[in-house]
Amino acid sequence: MGKTSQLPGFYKLSPEERLRVVKEFAGLTDGEMEILRSTGSLELEQADRMVENVIGTTELPLGIAVNFLINGRDYLIPMAIEEPSVVAAASNAARMARAKGGFRTSSTEPIMIGQIQLTGVRDPSGAKEAILSNKEKIIRIANEQDPMLVKLGGGAKDLEVRVLDTPSGPMAIVHLLVDTRDAMGANVINTMAEAVAPFIERVTGGRVYLRIVSNLADLRLARAEAIFAKEALGGGEVVDGIIRAYEFAASDPYRCATHNKGIMNGIVAIALATGNDTRALEAGAHAFAATKGKYKPLTTWEKTPEGDLLGRIELPMAVGIIGGATAAHPVAKVCLKILGVKTARELGEVMASVGLAQNLAAIRALAAEGIQRGHMSLHARNIAIMAGAEGELIDEVAERLVRERRIRVDRAKEILQELAEGSE
Ligand code: MEV
Repeated sequence: MGKTSQLPGFYKLSPEERLRVVKEFAGLTDGEMEILRSTGSLELEQADRMVENVIGTTELPLGIAVNFLINGRDYLIPMAIEEPSVVAAASNAARMARAKGGFRTSSTEPIMIGQIQLTGVRDPSGAKEAILSNKEKIIRIANEQDPMLVKLGGGAKDLEVRVLDTPSGPMAIVHLLVDTRDAMGANVINTMAEAVAPFIERVTGGRVYLRIVSNLADLRLARAEAIFAKEALGGGEVVDGIIRAYEFAASDPYRCATHNKGIMNGIVAIALATGNDTRALEAGAHAFAATKGKYKPLTTWEKTPEGDLLGRIELPMAVGIIGGATAAHPVAKVCLKILGVKTARELGEVMASVGLAQNLAAIRALAAEGIQRGHMSLHARNIAIMAGAEGELIDEVAERLVRERRIRVDRAKEILQELAEGSE
């Protein structure tokens, strides 16, 4: 039997016990275990090479979401996040998706866009023509910047020219389309865009200003879908509530921003864990959500003829598994090993699945009991521990605190006392 990410009771283990389970699953070495165990794994000297003016490092909790079955394969998902309930919510939604086979995914080739802003063009269609008729040469200059990427099957593949009307007159915007393979790709794109700019100026007589990657990576999309059985969700009324929540988001940007934020809770947590650029992902996701002229949800939800819930997600996924912090940060490297992804596309598809799961968990809770109960149970466990509960008593005390809606240390102490007296 293959490895499973279904780990009932994982949440009840101590961090050290959980680490051992993950070690077994991902084949971590003792050294890798040590990296996860020890705080301050990112040495000051490494940090000093990553950004400027370093004086220290900062940390976030790293959790593991369980239960993810994606394209028939089990994944454990490392998530770095400060917000309670996100890891638990993803794990719960992934558990519910399993009954109908888990998540199915797809993605486009990893094509990123580099923009070259050509100004001072009195005849925009002439400039466009001049650029397009020199397409092969421009692509060649771009590809000379990274022969290794070309050898791996990537590199500049095509270009497009868009003409924009601006207050100072027309601009021709060149989009260099680059397959960045397993890299996020911003660096190579920027290098290529800078390299081709002088040639573009020469053939058009215009003046280039900006040469930079576009974070609206709408040619690099990841998609995931899953069916959630109505029984797993809590019945037909919950399904209807989720559809109503989706319709609300689809009709109202105020709600939609929060709907999409919930999706990004999961996606950004994996990005942080794996050393990816969270701001690029956020920018891409929200810009993509607005490309149809109205800000829209990144997910869609519908009822199947059987009354189950079918969810889909599609969004830009500019992530890498080589280069940048993914290679420099010791914890990021271990997280990529835990995920066991072989390509950036696979990582993006996993992240899309987690985004979909996160959204389902949020709107299911919101449409039914509200999210505070979920938030409160972690809080209640902490209060129980503060009151002195240990082992199995932690959950017992926490459950009573939540049930009584009195999540206070003094009450937790009373419950502990009652339980101790009861067992005497
Ligand atoms: C909280 O971080 C995320 C939610 O607000 C998402 C949502 O409302 O859909 C719960």
